[in-house]
Amino acid sequence: MAGKTLHRVVVAGGGHGAHVMAASLARRADLDVVWYLPYGDEARRVLEALSLSPGQLIVRAPGGDFAVDGSRLTITGDARLAGSASVILIAVPAFAHHSLLQGLLPHLRPGALVGAVPSRGGFEYEVREVIRRTGHLIAFGLQTLPWACRIEAYGRMVRILGTKNRVLLGARPPSEGVAIAALLTDWLGIPVVAGGGLTAMTLANTGQLLHPGLMCVHLRRWARQPVTPTPMPPAPLFYQDAGDEGAALVAAMSGEVMSVRAAVCRATSGALNLGAVVDVFAWLLACYRGQIVDESSFARALATNRAYQGIRVPIREDGRSPDLSARYLVEDIPYGLAVTKGLAELAELPTPTIDGVLDEAGSWLGVRYVRDGHLVGAGLADTRAPQRYGLTTLAQALEGEVEGGGAGGSTTLLAGGIG
Ligand code: NAI
Repeated sequence: MAGKTLHRVVVAGGGHGAHVMAASLARRADLDVVWYLPYGDEARRVLEALSLSPGQLIVRAPGGDFAVDGSRLTITGDARLAGSASVILIAVPAFAHHSLLQGLLPHLRPGALVGAVPSRGGFEYEVREVIRRTGHLIAFGLQTLPWACRIEAYGRMVRILGTKNRVLLGARPPSEGVAIAALLTDWLGIPVVAGGGLTAMTLANTGQLLHPGLMCVHLRRWARQPVTPTPMPPAPLFYQDAGDEGAALVAAMSGEVMSVRAAVCRATSGALNLGAVVDVFAWLLACYRGQIVDESSFARALATNRAYQGIRVPIREDGRSPDLSARYLVEDIPYGLAVTKGLAELAELPTPTIDGVLDEAGSWLGVRYVRDGHLVGAGLADTRAPQRYGLTTLAQALEGEVEGGGAGGSTTLLAGGIG
């Protein structure tokens, strides 16, 4: 990547995060920002919105509002135009990565940087096929979206509720991570830190723990209610009401992820950079430093994190029951926890707590994820677990993740030691 001049950048997707991303990049005079909106009639909606006075995309933010002129953005649904860029930032939920990548695939330029913001779990397997077919591509993923944000008027106004102190980035090949992180830090004005390969992002994804774990606890409590009260009280607070039960469950899940990290490190003789994978309590304290009132325990930290105040358990539109189609389940299980479970299985590591959460959440969703400690059947087919891609050994799953291991081959280290 060194020495390249990067001018055109594509923001793919039309959701909350993509609105902030498009506006943030379009502030920079040195970037030609293409906003790629292939989904439904989103390109038309944005064009229409920007044709109305004042013709700007406005960002409301705690640190100061800003606006960019619509003329700073090239709005398109054309994959040929989007695919020709040297940097493509995909800012959509993980379940939309596949269709976006497949649409862009025939048009991607060799050496392009293609990143998912955030990557969630298993992006490494998703991009393998793309890398194979394009010959050469640099892929990357962020551990999380840098902002908590919500659209207020489609194509016209988005609100940033909070900004992360820093965001980790995984790259394939990992050696490109430092340069890409520096580029994004400069472009977004938020510290982006290189943290190894994409598998590091898969394991470091704390949403896969907090969201399904706490959903299970809230669903249990909801199921225990003898009758649905009338009138319905507001939904419980997702983090503030997690209590010791929620904190203990998430901490135990995190402990299992740390065991997977240790097993993968052992299997690769430490060659894989998994420094980004830390205990969830340590992550919370680092990520929200200065915003947590009581750090004395994980439960108290969850309850007193200012960034989490007021976030409620997702409920259905009728307000009467939990929303089982919420991202906390339908994204964070197939594109999160199940991927980590798949890696654990390849490392031959039992994960009873994670299995329990997959079982419990699966019973609510009507999906069986695990049987006798193994990912199975229909549940597996809908996930981004390595097994779903026919990868049956840890060496196969980690191909390209260790420095020096190219996309097409395996390093001596991988070929030698990982079963
Ligand atoms: P969103 O729900 O606003 O994204 C929806 C957009 O995704 C649609 O407008 C469309 O452009 C695209 N899309 C949906 N289905 C598609 C399909 N089948 N094919 C192609 N495109 C499709 O998502 P949001 O909120 O921007 O989040 C993006 C990612 O960031 C998710 O992984 C989310 O979990 C994560 N995240 C979001 C936060 C937020 O505050 N919005 C905070 C932290 C993480």
